[in-house]
Amino acid sequence: MSKQSQEHPDGVSQRAPSDHLGPDYKPTDEKPTATVSTKVSHENVTILPQTPQLIALLTMIRDKHTNRADFIFYSNRINRLLVEEALNHLPVLPHTVTTPVGRTYAGVKFEGKICGVSIMRAGEAMEQALRECCRSVRIGKILIQRDEETSKPKLFYDKLPEDIKERWVLLDPMLATGGSALMAVDVLRSKGVPESHICFLNLIASPEGAANFAQKFPNVRIVTAFVDEGLNEKNYIVPGLGDFGDRFYTL
Ligand code: PRP
Ligand code: URA
Repeated sequence: MSKQSQEHPDGVSQRAPSDHLGPDYKPTDEKPTATVSTKVSHENVTILPQTPQLIALLTMIRDKHTNRADFIFYSNRINRLLVEEALNHLPVLPHTVTTPVGRTYAGVKFEGKICGVSIMRAGEAMEQALRECCRSVRIGKILIQRDEETSKPKLFYDKLPEDIKERWVLLDPMLATGGSALMAVDVLRSKGVPESHICFLNLIASPEGAANFAQKFPNVRIVTAFVDEGLNEKNYIVPGLGDFGDRFYTL
């Protein structure tokens, strides 16, 4: 697949690459090009495969003309893909079953228990996809808000299950500076959750946020749909999708 770095009209080099989209069996000239995720070298970051479906879903939610009903629907679709991928990173143990025709099947089962921990408010939007995949999953809440002027996170509240240190999964759609997510990991660690038990599900990350996270918590796995170009002067992700919480809940 060909990759090219693009140029902004003002000559500033743009980090987001462009790529042909579609399955390998299709000839390149039949595959449209689109902006795909920036690659990152941090081992703990997993970026979803940049398929035509994912890029179409992301295009919908990035579009400023997309209304709230569609924003909810399409972001839920991506959240579902994130949850499905994240489940592949949780440990499993060998588990053999007997089928109705009397044969055994050597399979696996999940080793540990899950608890979705959402960073309120936007992270709560990811709970539905988790519930669809993990029936009656427990959900903990951490209320962290970013100060609009300074972009610094402030912790207001947390409410987590008693046995949180034996459970997995952290949810927040936007990883901008990384301040909120890092603070949430600190909360979980203060309750005894080992870094290696935390799998952070995220819709769009900035390269800066991913790097901050990888540096401070190299053993926390991040599963993200897309690493964008960077941050603007207000520490919003660009090109991004704007304020996720506002678009999902109030706009
Ligand atoms: C947003 C977002 C993340 C945070 C990301 O939440 O949902 O929690 O900002 O930014 P950071 O990586 O720079 O910390 P916000 O505090 O705006 O609250 P909201 O969920 O109510 O929109
Ligand atoms: N929070 C959002 O909702 N969007 C951003 O781009 C950054 C933080």
